[in-house]
Amino acid sequence: MAAFNELVFSGVQPTGNLHLGNYLGAIKRFVEMQNRDAQCLYCVVDMHAITLWQDPQALRGQIREVTAAFLAAGIDPRRSIVFNQSQVPAHAELAWIFNCVARIGWLNRMTQFKDKAGKDRENASVGLYAYPVLMAADILAYRATHVPVGEDQKQHLELTRDIAQKFNTDFAGSIMAHGHGEDGFFPVTEPLIGGPAARVMSLRDGAKKMSKSDASDNSRINLTDDQDLIAQKVRKAKTDPDPLPSEAEGLKGRPEADNLVGIYAALAETTREAVLAQYGGAQFSAFKGALVDLAVEKLSPINAEMKRLTADPGHIDAVLADGAARAEAIAAPTLDAVKDIVGFVRRTRLSPV
Ligand code: TRP
Repeated sequence: MAAFNELVFSGVQPTGNLHLGNYLGAIKRFVEMQNRDAQCLYCVVDMHAITLWQDPQALRGQIREVTAAFLAAGIDPRRSIVFNQSQVPAHAELAWIFNCVARIGWLNRMTQFKDKAGKDRENASVGLYAYPVLMAADILAYRATHVPVGEDQKQHLELTRDIAQKFNTDFAGSIMAHGHGEDGFFPVTEPLIGGPAARVMSLRDGAKKMSKSDASDNSRINLTDDQDLIAQKVRKAKTDPDPLPSEAEGLKGRPEADNLVGIYAALAETTREAVLAQYGGAQFSAFKGALVDLAVEKLSPINAEMKRLTADPGHIDAVLADGAARAEAIAAPTLDAVKDIVGFVRRTRLSPV
């Protein structure tokens, strides 16, 4: 592997229905990260997906579909490492060790668990509870320094930093004894949250996140939606009666307007200010027309390429296998070092007795 200054890691769950929020908040930013002096790893986190029950046949399709979306959006599988989590055992192994570093009190504070488990917490899977620990293992198995994620993952990244720091202090002596620097073994990861679409909201309710599980399909634009469907959903999107403001300040208290302007800005790779400099004073009907054109222009090539790629699962599986081998080559030495640091006896090469 070439020496890079940064190691970027991120993951997307293969739980079906990739939508504009996944694209603008995550995948599109992964593509941009490829232009930094960085080794980028993009992981289809299938082990996270099964923290909620998944139909096995559907899951296989969804793993390939997320992979296809990565490639269709412009992630280059030669420059970046594209793989699915379950093919690299280091994730599960390190997660176990981190289960013994993380504290129950830390996990009890995770708001996403509370949301996903709902009222019947007793009946949630242990995996759903330990989900953020596996996420920390994903990141730290590669000692990733930069993690692009949406706003909703911020708390999980803080937990990742806490785990890294506690590991570094709990094992400080052993880390030094094994020849790793005084800065500790695991880096403190930088979250990269931001851009105009860090939070893409529902098209039906500006107070709710765009979500694959929203009952209304009109609340989201799926990456598999064709032109007509995109146009229909944008035209039906909820708005308020006023024209667009001419400054971003004027979007305060107008969540639907803010969301549509944010989506436009992210698709056009500009800022809310620049969009409003152009459309300030316009009625929503006119702005929605422009947004439909832009969304169709940006999303239909991705949609078409995803269709082409998913028609050839053999190719997708080859990309994943190649990615897994390259990921493993980075993670395996880290895992070996962690096993030494915690005091495990590693398997030695068998010699004839
Ligand atoms: N939890 C993330 C999400 O739902 C997905 C994820 C899993 C992830 N492991 C990760 C993101 C590691 C960044 C880094 O969006």
